[in-house]
Amino acid sequence: MKRIIINGANGYVASNFIYQLLARDYEVIALVRNSGKRSSLRKMQDALSEINESEYPIPKNLTVYNYSLNHKDFAMSPDDLEAIFDQDSDYFHFAASLKYDERSKTEILQTNLKGVENSVEVFLQYASSGSRYFFISTSYSCGNISVPFMEEFYDNDDISGFRNYYEQSKRFAENIIRKHIGADHLNAHILRLSQVIGDSRTGFTKTDYGIFDFAKRVHNLAFRYPGETVRVQVEPHSTQNLIPVNKVVDSFFKIIETVNLPVIMNVTAKNSIRNVYIINALCKLLPLNLIPVKKLETAEMSSLERIISMGMSFTGSYTNTRLIFDNTNLEQVIGRGNNEVSEDMVFRMLKYFVNELSEKKLQLQTTNKA
Ligand SMILES: NC(=O)c1ccc[n+]([C@@H]2O[C@H](COP(=O)([O-])OP(=O)(O)OC[C@H]3O[C@@H](n4cnc5c(N)ncnc54)[C@H](OP(=O)(O)O)[C@@H]3O)[C@@H](O)[C@H]2O)c1
Repeated sequence: MKRIIINGANGYVASNFIYQLLARDYEVIALVRNSGKRSSLRKMQDALSEINESEYPIPKNLTVYNYSLNHKDFAMSPDDLEAIFDQDSDYFHFAASLKYDERSKTEILQTNLKGVENSVEVFLQYASSGSRYFFISTSYSCGNISVPFMEEFYDNDDISGFRNYYEQSKRFAENIIRKHIGADHLNAHILRLSQVIGDSRTGFTKTDYGIFDFAKRVHNLAFRYPGETVRVQVEPHSTQNLIPVNKVVDSFFKIIETVNLPVIMNVTAKNSIRNVYIINALCKLLPLNLIPVKKLETAEMSSLERIISMGMSFTGSYTNTRLIFDNTNLEQVIGRGNNEVSEDMVFRMLKYFVNELSEKKLQLQTTNKA
């Protein structure tokens, strides 16, 4: 079975991929950084246990290494790196900072640019000639585009071309890969994900990214101020491109099983979900009456509306988008229509997510009272 090497392995998307790789007997090498008291092995095990919903025993086909993304040779010994790359493998670069704000600019650039440059250097030095490098990017590297985002390279642009530094860093990182494909014949592919949500088979949703970050904020408000009516600045007919984590994983399997691949694939859904549907779903699930409005000036807001608006500094910039992602290349590999998500699936995920939050809040209240 092919060897799969993954950095940023304990993250949400990577750990879901690894869980399925291990179940299908692939040999997996996971690169995870130690942090504080938690070893890289513990972090990997915690991530897999969360998916497993019980303690996950580390199987024989998984090896976990500590590494440092920005250091020469990942601060690992040449012996370890030679052993990791001693056969043709697929190497996935997942590690990234998903922060977006100006204050985190240095961290974003260090991780998402310097980290990628360094990981390419390690790959070029140690990987055998038949190995492939997969860079996990985002379809939001499209920036403020108003036409369909194609599966091709786009030039770097200044920050005014993007909604935030995260988007810009991913565009720049794609161009680092492009440079090495040209200069060093790097055998690389770019997989651009849209918003990764929960599992469409079970509804289990263990991410609080994107629409779930919004749901978390709304839940907090509903818990503190039940029954209130609150306007939110969300363009009702704009859309979110959502892709279930299990479908991302299925796409990755098709990709690793395919020999001749396009260089860039937009791992996105054809059909997006309208904001009004998400807002209505939250109104059904929570004791709060949310009213989406296209434009809401701060001066017109009630105190509750201000609280929610402040918390939407990231999600807010995605509430009036109707992005279209071409995914012709992807569909050549995985087939047509395999990534779609229905409104019912999204409702199930929101329900699971909101119920989990409520349970945690109630547990906390009980512990505090005891
Ligand atoms: N989730 C989405 O909806 C989505 C959408 C589009 C693209 N993507 C892309 O998919 C990839 C995975 O995203 P995710 O949602 O799974 O993110 P995540 O759960 O936040 O995982 C990020 C991973 O990167 C690691 N990392 C961050 N900074 C690092 C550093 N300085 N050195 C080493 N490792 C570092 C994290 O390690 P620690 O745990 O040690 O911090 C973690 O393993 C990212 O490249 C992201 O841009 C995700």
